[in-house]
Amino acid sequence: MDLFEKLLANNQAWVKERVAKDPDFFKRLSEVQTPDILWIGCSDSRVPANQITGLLPGEVFVHRNIANVVQREDVNSSSVIQFAVTALKVRNIVVCGHYGCGGVQAAYKDQLEDPLEIWIEHIRRIRALHEDELGALADDELRWRRLCELNVLAQVENVARLRVVRSAWEQGERLAIHGWIYDLRDGLLNDLGACVEGPD
Ligand code: CO
Repeated sequence: MDLFEKLLANNQAWVKERVAKDPDFFKRLSEVQTPDILWIGCSDSRVPANQITGLLPGEVFVHRNIANVVQREDVNSSSVIQFAVTALKVRNIVVCGHYGCGGVQAAYKDQLEDPLEIWIEHIRRIRALHEDELGALADDELRWRRLCELNVLAQVENVARLRVVRSAWEQGERLAIHGWIYDLRDGLLNDLGACVEGPD
Protein backbone atom coordinates (compact mmCIF):
# COMPACT_ATOMS: atom_id res chain seq x y z
CA MET A 1 0.00 0.00 0.00
CA ASP A 2 1.49 3.34 -0.93
CA LEU A 3 1.37 6.37 1.35
CA PHE A 4 -1.72 7.90 -0.23
CA GLU A 5 -3.66 4.65 -0.21
CA LYS A 6 -2.74 4.38 3.44
CA LEU A 7 -4.12 7.87 4.18
CA LEU A 8 -7.45 7.05 2.56
CA ALA A 9 -7.65 3.73 4.39
CA ASN A 10 -6.85 5.51 7.66
CA ASN A 11 -9.64 7.97 6.95
CA GLN A 12 -12.18 5.21 6.39
CA ALA A 13 -11.16 3.46 9.58
CA TRP A 14 -11.39 6.75 11.49
CA VAL A 15 -14.91 7.47 10.17
CA LYS A 16 -16.02 3.97 11.16
CA GLU A 17 -14.66 4.43 14.66
CA ARG A 18 -16.24 7.88 15.13
CA VAL A 19 -19.65 6.79 13.90
CA ALA A 20 -19.55 3.74 16.16
CA LYS A 21 -18.97 6.02 19.15
CA ASP A 22 -21.34 8.77 18.07
CA PRO A 23 -23.72 8.02 15.18
CA ASP A 24 -24.70 11.70 14.70
CA PHE A 25 -21.13 13.04 14.82
CA PHE A 26 -20.77 14.08 11.18
CA LYS A 27 -24.37 15.19 10.78
CA ARG A 28 -24.01 17.52 13.76
CA LEU A 29 -20.66 18.93 12.64
CA SER A 30 -21.84 19.48 9.09
CA GLU A 31 -24.48 21.88 10.38
CA VAL A 32 -22.50 24.12 12.70
CA GLN A 33 -19.13 24.64 14.35
CA THR A 34 -19.03 26.01 17.88
CA PRO A 35 -15.42 25.84 19.03
CA ASP A 36 -14.59 27.65 22.25
CA ILE A 37 -10.89 27.91 21.48
CA LEU A 38 -8.75 29.53 18.82
CA TRP A 39 -5.35 27.89 18.62
CA ILE A 40 -2.45 29.83 17.16
CA GLY A 41 0.48 27.48 16.81
CA CYS A 42 3.55 26.67 14.77
CA SER A 43 3.25 24.84 11.44
CA ASP A 44 5.76 22.29 12.75
CA SER A 45 4.46 18.80 11.93
CA ARG A 46 5.29 17.65 15.46
CA VAL A 47 2.84 20.01 17.16
CA PRO A 48 -0.67 19.14 15.92
CA ALA A 49 -3.21 21.14 17.93
CA ASN A 50 -6.03 18.58 18.13
CA GLN A 51 -3.90 15.55 18.85
CA ILE A 52 -1.83 17.00 21.67
CA THR A 53 -4.90 18.43 23.41
CA GLY A 54 -7.18 15.45 22.79
CA LEU A 55 -9.75 17.62 21.00
CA LEU A 56 -12.13 16.38 18.31
CA PRO A 57 -13.04 18.08 15.04
CA GLY A 58 -15.27 21.04 15.83
CA GLU A 59 -13.66 21.81 19.17
CA VAL A 60 -10.77 24.07 18.18
CA PHE A 61 -10.36 26.66 15.43
CA VAL A 62 -6.77 26.52 14.25
CA HIS A 63 -4.26 28.88 12.71
CA ARG A 64 -0.69 27.72 12.27
CA ASN A 65 2.27 29.43 10.70
CA ILE A 66 6.02 29.34 11.07
CA ALA A 67 6.88 30.18 14.70
CA ASN A 68 3.27 31.10 15.66
CA VAL A 69 3.59 34.76 14.74
CA VAL A 70 0.71 37.25 14.93
CA GLN A 71 1.15 40.55 13.13
CA ARG A 72 -1.49 43.19 12.54
CA GLU A 73 -0.30 43.63 8.94
CA ASP A 74 -0.50 39.89 8.26
CA VAL A 75 -3.95 39.52 6.71
CA ASN A 76 -3.94 35.78 7.22
CA SER A 77 -3.53 35.56 11.00
CA SER A 78 -5.52 38.73 11.68
CA SER A 79 -8.48 37.50 9.57
CA VAL A 80 -8.48 34.19 11.40
CA ILE A 81 -8.59 36.03 14.73
CA GLN A 82 -11.28 38.42 13.51
CA PHE A 83 -13.49 35.54 12.36
CA ALA A 84 -12.89 33.49 15.51
CA VAL A 85 -13.73 36.41 17.82
CA THR A 86 -16.62 38.05 15.98
CA ALA A 87 -18.33 35.13 14.23
CA LEU A 88 -17.43 32.06 16.26
CA LYS A 89 -17.34 33.99 19.55
CA VAL A 90 -14.48 31.93 20.95
CA ARG A 91 -13.79 32.65 24.62
CA ASN A 92 -10.17 31.56 24.56
CA ILE A 93 -7.20 32.16 22.32
CA VAL A 94 -4.18 29.96 22.90
CA VAL A 95 -0.85 31.04 21.47
CA CYS A 96 1.23 27.90 21.61
CA GLY A 97 4.92 27.89 20.79
CA HIS A 98 7.28 25.00 21.16
CA TYR A 99 10.83 24.41 22.28
CA GLY A 100 13.04 23.39 19.39
CA CYS A 101 11.24 25.73 16.98
CA GLY A 102 13.24 26.07 13.78
CA GLY A 103 11.53 29.36 12.95
CA VAL A 104 12.73 30.82 16.24
CA GLN A 105 16.21 29.37 15.78
CA ALA A 106 16.40 31.06 12.39
CA ALA A 107 16.61 34.38 14.24
CA TYR A 108 20.11 33.27 15.29
CA LYS A 109 21.14 32.31 11.78
CA ASP A 110 22.14 34.06 8.56
CA GLN A 111 19.68 36.02 6.54
CA LEU A 112 17.30 33.86 4.50
CA GLU A 113 15.72 34.53 1.13
CA ASP A 114 12.41 36.37 0.99
CA PRO A 115 9.64 35.80 1.82
CA LEU A 116 10.96 33.65 4.66
CA GLU A 117 13.33 36.39 5.80
CA ILE A 118 10.46 38.90 6.01
CA TRP A 119 8.69 36.46 8.32
CA ILE A 120 11.72 35.63 10.47
CA GLU A 121 12.42 39.36 10.84
CA HIS A 122 9.55 39.41 13.38
CA ILE A 123 11.50 36.96 15.53
CA ARG A 124 14.78 38.79 15.00
CA ARG A 125 13.12 41.90 16.44
CA ILE A 126 12.02 40.03 19.57
CA ARG A 127 15.54 38.66 19.92
CA ALA A 128 17.00 42.18 19.64
CA LEU A 129 14.53 43.50 22.20
CA HIS A 130 15.71 40.90 24.76
CA GLU A 131 19.38 40.73 23.79
CA ASP A 132 20.53 41.54 27.36
CA GLU A 133 18.57 38.72 28.95
CA LEU A 134 19.39 36.25 26.18
CA GLY A 135 23.07 37.18 26.09
CA ALA A 136 23.40 36.48 29.80
CA LEU A 137 22.35 32.85 29.39
CA ALA A 138 25.01 30.13 29.50
CA ASP A 139 24.72 28.63 26.01
CA ASP A 140 22.95 28.70 22.64
CA GLU A 141 20.54 25.94 23.64
CA LEU A 142 19.27 27.98 26.60
CA ARG A 143 19.05 31.13 24.48
CA TRP A 144 17.03 29.27 21.86
CA ARG A 145 14.65 27.87 24.49
CA ARG A 146 14.19 31.25 26.12
CA LEU A 147 13.58 32.97 22.78
CA CYS A 148 10.86 30.37 22.07
CA GLU A 149 9.18 31.48 25.32
CA LEU A 150 9.73 35.21 24.70
CA ASN A 151 8.22 34.80 21.25
CA VAL A 152 5.03 33.31 22.72
CA LEU A 153 4.78 36.17 25.22
CA ALA A 154 5.28 38.74 22.46
CA GLN A 155 2.60 37.11 20.31
CA VAL A 156 0.14 37.04 23.25
CA GLU A 157 0.72 40.79 23.48
CA ASN A 158 0.26 41.23 19.75
CA VAL A 159 -3.09 39.41 19.92
CA ALA A 160 -4.17 41.57 22.86
CA ARG A 161 -3.40 44.71 20.85
CA LEU A 162 -5.57 43.80 17.86
CA ARG A 163 -8.55 46.06 17.36
CA VAL A 164 -10.99 43.16 17.15
CA VAL A 165 -9.82 41.84 20.52
CA ARG A 166 -9.95 45.30 22.13
CA SER A 167 -13.49 45.90 20.95
CA ALA A 168 -14.63 42.49 22.21
CA TRP A 169 -13.38 43.51 25.66
CA GLU A 170 -14.96 46.96 25.34
CA GLN A 171 -18.28 45.26 24.66
CA GLY A 172 -17.85 43.31 27.88
CA GLU A 173 -17.19 39.98 26.20
CA ARG A 174 -15.21 37.35 28.02
CA LEU A 175 -12.05 36.58 26.05
CA ALA A 176 -8.84 35.20 27.50
CA ILE A 177 -5.50 34.91 25.72
CA HIS A 178 -3.18 32.19 26.97
CA GLY A 179 0.53 31.67 26.32
CA TRP A 180 1.61 28.03 26.20
CA ILE A 181 4.70 26.18 25.13
CA TYR A 182 5.01 22.59 24.02
CA ASP A 183 8.04 20.46 24.66
CA LEU A 184 8.91 18.15 21.76
CA ARG A 185 11.01 16.00 24.07
CA ASP A 186 8.23 14.88 26.41
CA GLY A 187 5.05 15.91 24.59
CA LEU A 188 3.91 18.11 27.47
CA LEU A 189 2.29 21.53 27.26
CA ASN A 190 3.41 24.17 29.73
CA ASP A 191 1.43 27.27 30.65
CA LEU A 192 3.74 30.29 30.60
CA GLY A 193 1.46 32.03 33.10
CA ALA A 194 0.77 34.93 30.77
CA CYS A 195 -3.03 34.87 30.60
CA VAL A 196 -4.49 38.18 29.41
CA GLU A 197 -8.19 38.71 30.08
CA GLY A 198 -8.64 42.41 29.43
CA PRO A 199 -7.07 45.57 28.03
CA ASP A 200 -5.05 46.23 31.23
CO1 CO B 1 8.18 25.84 15.17
